[in-house]
Amino acid sequence: MTFHTIIEPFRIKSVEAVKFTRREDREARLVEAGYNVFRLHAEDVLIDLLTDSGTGAMSAAQWGALMQGDESYAGSRSFYRFQDVVRDLTGFRHIIPTHQGRAAERILFHTVLERGHVVPNNNHFDTTRANIEVEGAEARDLVVAEGRVPSAIHPFKGNIDLVALERTLAEDGDRVPLVMVTITNNSGGGQPVSLENLRGVRALCDRYRKPFFLDACRFAENAYFIKLREPGQGGRTPKAIAQEMFALADGCTMSAKKDGLANIGGFLALNDESWADAARTLLILTEGFPTYGGLAGYDLEAIARGLEEVVEEPYLRYRLRSTEYLADKLVASGVPIIQPAGGHAIYLDARALLPHVPPLEYPGIALANALYVEGGVRGVEIGTVMFGLHPDGTETPAAMDLVRLAIPRRVYTQSHIDFVAEAVIAVARQKDRLRGYRIVSPPRVLRHFTASFAPL
Ligand code: F0G
Repeated sequence: MTFHTIIEPFRIKSVEAVKFTRREDREARLVEAGYNVFRLHAEDVLIDLLTDSGTGAMSAAQWGALMQGDESYAGSRSFYRFQDVVRDLTGFRHIIPTHQGRAAERILFHTVLERGHVVPNNNHFDTTRANIEVEGAEARDLVVAEGRVPSAIHPFKGNIDLVALERTLAEDGDRVPLVMVTITNNSGGGQPVSLENLRGVRALCDRYRKPFFLDACRFAENAYFIKLREPGQGGRTPKAIAQEMFALADGCTMSAKKDGLANIGGFLALNDESWADAARTLLILTEGFPTYGGLAGYDLEAIARGLEEVVEEPYLRYRLRSTEYLADKLVASGVPIIQPAGGHAIYLDARALLPHVPPLEYPGIALANALYVEGGVRGVEIGTVMFGLHPDGTETPAAMDLVRLAIPRRVYTQSHIDFVAEAVIAVARQKDRLRGYRIVSPPRVLRHFTASFAPL
């Protein structure tokens, strides 16, 4: 018979207890944290969906690989193992390890950007944007129109708008040193990019002679979406699809804390020799020697093994299905979310759920806080607090007010997710009672991490 239940493709060998708290305790912890869930002690959170970055569970094989780590300063065996795996997957010539994704971004952009440059992308992640802007360059978001509408259903809502990209290359081409595409598109709801779209970017980059880089943090989830949704791709392995995605590009930045299935690490990989030489020089200044790049030898082993496991089909089938499972439950109860479900997270549409809370009273904070008080579940506001404050000190509503529930890899079981759905639905039922917030201590940069709020 054919089974319909998609089970967790692992059994559990080691467990970590979670702490149950009472509602009064959570209310008190939230007051102490200035009504900002970033400032909670993680111990006081029951189910932590703040991020899928570095929060995954490593496999027994990865823990075993840690003991194989070679901690030599230069030329470590673990580096060569890591390099082999990354080369096999990406095909890129130069593989430069870094301590996490944003270090790869900083090194790439500091190497190639000048003041006044423009970097097109579907949507830049916040650290990518910040690392471009700090060089005096512009981070230009060109996602397709469907990618900006939470309720619009489209199989590849992460695609870049090729017409808009061509316009940028035609009009501002002399200021564009490279084109980027983020797979999957985190800021746009964890939505995938099709192979057809990546081929279109390649063709434009060839025509205008521009290098094409992937922000590859969630490349394996993107590859599996392609297998499930793109005509003609259903019979291929996720690894073969991933290899084709990388083959279309000239380089990538990567956070191994996502689809590297590791707790720390990342890399910059590229074909251009002169860029690679300049990047390695910078790497030595801030990260370390090119065969460890800010990581321990054992981290390189864990990432190498993680990159092998992440493209296994049973893992990816479970991964995307478990996110979709949460989305299905919420949609069935009428909770507004970005549809379809992303790969690593679901995004609650706080603005649609709480129309009585104006964007400048932060509906995303109201919803995230209520969810913590209700069920001890921690998500993160992706909205006006994160994106609404401008460098000149003015504030406007962000494009969307969302609460992201990011699912750590291989950490929570189906019953944890059932519990999360119950908590979200319970909060949605009391939505009329939720009130907005004002900011009482306003940091000027990346305020979402440290601001304190007061309820209105
Ligand atoms: N690019 C994307 C698309 C990301 O989602 C992240 C991190 C980075 C780059 C930077 O990688 O954290 O290793 O320096 N995203 C995490 C998140 C933090 O919660 O979405 P990093």
